[in-house]
Order: sequence, then C-alpha cells, then structure tokens
Amino acid sequence: MKNERIGIFDSGLGGLSILNELKKVLPNEDYLFYEDSINNPYGEKTEEELFEITSKIVDYLIENKCKIIVIACNTATTSCIKKLREKYQNMIFIGTVPAIKMAYDANSKNTLLLATSYTIKSERVKELLNDYTGINQNIYVESGKNLANLIEEGDINKIKTLLSEILLPYKDNIDSIVLGCTHYPLVKDLIKEIIPNIEILDGSFGVAKETKHQLIENDLLNESNEEGKIIIENSKSQDLVKRSYEILG
Ligand code: DGL
Repeated sequence: MKNERIGIFDSGLGGLSILNELKKVLPNEDYLFYEDSINNPYGEKTEEELFEITSKIVDYLIENKCKIIVIACNTATTSCIKKLREKYQNMIFIGTVPAIKMAYDANSKNTLLLATSYTIKSERVKELLNDYTGINQNIYVESGKNLANLIEEGDINKIKTLLSEILLPYKDNIDSIVLGCTHYPLVKDLIKEIIPNIEILDGSFGVAKETKHQLIENDLLNESNEEGKIIIENSKSQDLVKRSYEILG
C-alpha cells in the first residue's frame, strides 16, 4: 500500500496547480494525474452529471493502484465529495474549496472570490462565506464565466480580454482575490498585470499539507528516498498531456 500512488483529477490542467505543491511537500510519492479535458468545463454541469463523471474517474484511479485521491477541482469537490466519500468508504478523499478562510485569516478588508458558476452557487461556498466573512469585511463574488475553458485552450488574448472584463470593475475596490478554481492560478501573472497590487490567495499549499497529514495518519507515506514518478493522462488528447508535462517543468 505505501508504495501505491496518489491519484489526482481535475477537468483539465487546473490540477497542475495542486500537483505542483504536492510535488514540493511529498517529493518521494508517485502520482497519477487524470485530466478530464473532454468533459471540461465542469463548472457548467449539473450535480448528477458531475457525480457520474467523477465516479468513473475514481473507479479508474482505484484500478490503477491509488491509495488516496486528491480532487484537484473546486467544482467537483463542492458538488460531489460527500457522495464520493459515501460511495467509496475505503478511500481517502482530499478536496479543494475556495480559500475564503485565508482571506479571513489575513484580515483582508475587500476580497473578490472568483470561481466557476457551479462553485459560487454551491452550498459549501455559502457555508464558507457565512463562517468566514468578518465584521467590516466585504467579499464580492464573481463567476469566472468560461475562463477555465479558455485556459484549457491556451489563447492568451482571449484570457486577457475576459480577465479585464471581470477584474477591472474591482481594480480600486479590492485588496485580495481568492482563486476558487484550480485553473486560475495558472494565469496569476496575467491577473497581476491587470491589478498589480493585489494579494492572490489559493488553497493549493493547504491541500498538499492536508494530503501529507492524511498519509501520515493512515500510515500510507511512501518511505522511499527516491524522487517519485509523475504520470499524467488526459481524456481528450495526447498533445494536452505533453503540454502539461511542459507546464510542470
Ligand atoms: N478546475 C476546476 C475547479 O477548480 C473547474 C474548471 C471547470 O469548470 O471545468 O473548479
């Protein structure tokens, strides 16, 4: 068991932002990252559709010897993690939710939460906003519209246009932005070009730390001293796999 892999999935290359942190925190683990680009965007799907899609991926990751599964997608986490935990009771799931608590802990006065349409409407985000909006704190909530999809396609001009459309109205009103979709950290630099003096918050490091904690708690940590292997697969095309290895560096 200890030498089995960490399974990760997302609707595409967004999961790389989490895999990147996992690699740093758990360098001796092996990884299987499944990018479900064929079903992107998850953010426009229903809960039923997402449960069906994510169950198939979980089956696949279990067949391929994964000892723990990291749902590297806010949309899939907010929609399905509870049901997946009920269905696969022997599997440990780590999810990712928008880092609203980080804005609260940082005492940020004006925060913009940017996430997919599904995530911003989810019960989990309502709970987080309820629990972690301080007195004298404003949290604006915006849908990233088809930003995740544009990031998948990689057209920088279209990404810049959409980001400007969403962010410019907030330029002088916010001091932090929570990236509530794992695709968005991949365009952090473009966000900073539009709003230079902004604190960008995302939960990737917290997810990696929690994964390590769960592996230790469940006695599943790989004790090898060798650097782990990373396998990336994509449901749509081999070219996308190549691109992901390049982004990962
Ligand atoms: N990367 C995903 C997330 O964190 C979703 C992107 C999509 O809509 O497919 O929400």
